[in-house]
Amino acid sequence: MTISTRLTELLGIEHPVILAPMAAVSGGALAAAVSQAGGLGLIGGGYGDPDWIDAQYAAAGNARIGAGFITWSLAQRPDALDRVLRRSPVAVMLSFGDPTPFATTVRNAGAKLICQVQTIEDARVAAAAGADVIVAQGTEAGGHGGTRTTMSLVPPVVDAVAPIPVAAAGGIADGRGLAAALSLGAAGALLGTRFYATVEALGHPAAKSRLVASGGADTVRTSVFDVVRELAWPGQWTGRALRNAFVRRWAGREDELRADLQGAIGAFREAVRTDNFDEAAIMAGEGLDLIGAIEPAAAVLDRLVMDAEDTLRRTAATCR
Ligand SMILES: Cc1cc2nc3c(=O)[nH]c(=O)nc-3n(C[C@H](O)[C@H](O)[C@H](O)COP(=O)(O)O)c2cc1C
Repeated sequence: MTISTRLTELLGIEHPVILAPMAAVSGGALAAAVSQAGGLGLIGGGYGDPDWIDAQYAAAGNARIGAGFITWSLAQRPDALDRVLRRSPVAVMLSFGDPTPFATTVRNAGAKLICQVQTIEDARVAAAAGADVIVAQGTEAGGHGGTRTTMSLVPPVVDAVAPIPVAAAGGIADGRGLAAALSLGAAGALLGTRFYATVEALGHPAAKSRLVASGGADTVRTSVFDVVRELAWPGQWTGRALRNAFVRRWAGREDELRADLQGAIGAFREAVRTDNFDEAAIMAGEGLDLIGAIEPAAAVLDRLVMDAEDTLRRTAATCR
């Protein structure tokens, strides 16, 4: 049995699984590992540092990969997109902002345009902009996101943008989640947190260990890390991260943090420099309960697909 969907056909991949372009986590090695295992790896272009992107493309070798950007930030650094497009990416994923100004450039370069959305309205905007794939991201997701849950968001997005294939994201970390996504009408899934807990992911081993030791209830949506990093995130998106000492100190007191920002920034940067994750951010989603070890990405993907197939078979067998 193989799981063949409009997503696998469109992207030319074996399994309907996309690696989320996680800033500072989805580097070239991880993107290449996911693609070589049959999914689609996306480098986390994040806020658009062209030199970092070049280094990660070098680390990916000849793997068939793509890249993703944070749209509102890309609007301030469009050169980063040109750098990626020169490398003939399979796909470019845009999240958090209107993709319309970049859509023609991406598609004219021969890359598929993947747009991640958090609302039905934004799914319609992405479809009108010409998205080839739409990722419906629920609030369970690690990193930035909105307020709707994956379960209730995916089906209406599928309906709103048909026949454009939809990938579900947010809290999917095992084969049951992939099977559930397909049952909701999605043509696949995009996973971040599960792939963060892999050997190839960038990130300090201590951060990865915390992922394994934590559960979904240890995460929280917050803007405190955006405030202290002086990132101008529009208010509708907050970041899901592990609740650490920094979050406990400042969540709900964002105005006081802003008032005391210079002092807080110094201490925060020092925490980042010294890998002190009681203070520094670890972005992660509610799927953490399902993560038991740091493994190679290919092992994660193989098991995910096998378990999804099993789940789908077992589910079908319950219908008489
Ligand atoms: C560590 C981390 C960093 C992320 N960075 C980005 C990013 O730079 N751009 C982006 O579009 N999404 C980013 N995301 C969100 C993912 O695109 C995706 O929606 C999410 O990981 C899916 O939910 P999951 O983490 O439960 O699998 C990030 C997620 C994590 C966990």
